[in-house]
Amino acid sequence: MKPAIEFTDVHKTYGRAGRSSPALDGVTFAVAPGEFAVLTGPSGAGKTTLIKLLMAIERPDRGEIRVVGRDVHRLTTASVPYLRRNLGVVFQDFRLLPEATATENVRLALQILGLRPREVRRRASAALERVGLDRSSHRKRVRALSGGEQQRVALARAIASDPPILLGDEPTGNLDPELSASIIEVLSELAREGTTLLIATHDPAMQRLAPHAKALRLTQGRLTQVDSPRSRLRGAAELIGVEAVA
Ligand SMILES: Nc1ncnc2c1ncn2[C@@H]1O[C@H](COP(=O)(O)OP(=O)(O)O)[C@@H](O)[C@H]1O
Ligand SMILES: [Mg+2]
Repeated sequence: MKPAIEFTDVHKTYGRAGRSSPALDGVTFAVAPGEFAVLTGPSGAGKTTLIKLLMAIERPDRGEIRVVGRDVHRLTTASVPYLRRNLGVVFQDFRLLPEATATENVRLALQILGLRPREVRRRASAALERVGLDRSSHRKRVRALSGGEQQRVALARAIASDPPILLGDEPTGNLDPELSASIIEVLSELAREGTTLLIATHDPAMQRLAPHAKALRLTQGRLTQVDSPRSRLRGAAELIGVEAVA
């Protein structure tokens, strides 16, 4: 089976090469369909850059990025909707329309995909319910919502179209521990249903609450650790001197 996400020797430097250090420096990894990958690393390590490259918001200087087998940076303008259909994303800064209501923000994303009005309405309210946004807040303008509520609207918008792959840039960044746990629960549930997840996070709770996740760690643009449940199993098997079945 093709990986859902595949980076091969990806390099990215902002501005003129040689003037600044690379944001990503030879990054190679793959996320299998249905896998839950957690991307950690200190501020400035390149997490947001990696997600922007995946979304084709930024271009790599070198290397290849594939989503379900297709080279993201070789897509023609006509096939960009292919990317949008496959990838749901929660941005670090939400990117919601502040004057529109929570419901309108989610509906708009579905309308863009060309869904029928009835389907748009049904999916938007289901997504907002799923992320636990209080019913009374569905009709409020986004600018009147708290940071935590806005974060949930952003997640609802990302999952409303049922994308096979969900990306998140610090999706629990503005939440108190309780809310963060409820968002992680929604993410784990999506993972169990077969969604591929790649979540950049500072939140130590993410790894604690998602023990099945594959751990990717970025340090100064380099991937320093690629740990999957399977490789952990292999590591444990080596320690006790048996051959792992998986
Ligand atoms: N638009 C940009 N222009 C110039 N430098 C940038 C830009 N975006 C990010 N960088 C730099 O690239 C590096 C990686 O940043 P980023 O991907 O935002 O890391 P993270 O999300 O892990 O904090 C940092 O050194 C940052 O200053
Ligand atoms: Mg970031």
